[in-house]
Amino acid sequence: MTIEVTDREGKARAMDWAPGQSLMEVLRDADLVLASCGGNAVCGTCHVLLAGGAVAKLSAPSPDETETLRGAAEFGEGSSRLSCQIPFSRELDGMRVRVAPDS
Ligand code: FES
Repeated sequence: MTIEVTDREGKARAMDWAPGQSLMEVLRDADLVLASCGGNAVCGTCHVLLAGGAVAKLSAPSPDETETLRGAAEFGEGSSRLSCQIPFSRELDGMRVRVAPDS
């Protein structure tokens, strides 16, 4: 499955997303996010903004994710999520993702 990712420099690229990976793992393996808490929804370094209504295809954020996102730089109502909390889903094929600025 392929998604389009725009990095912090504004450069867009197509990236493969394989079953079993979280979105954070895809981005971390390409050195696009730090993911310093290892996927526990507390560091906020994996924050992404999702385009095109993709957020509506995801389950609601947990209280921990919501709290972390509140402290994030460039929080986008209806588009911000922590990529570590987004599991692989074929419904997200073609999704456009922008890596948020560092908090
Ligand atoms: S990896 Fe730390 S919040 Fe996602």
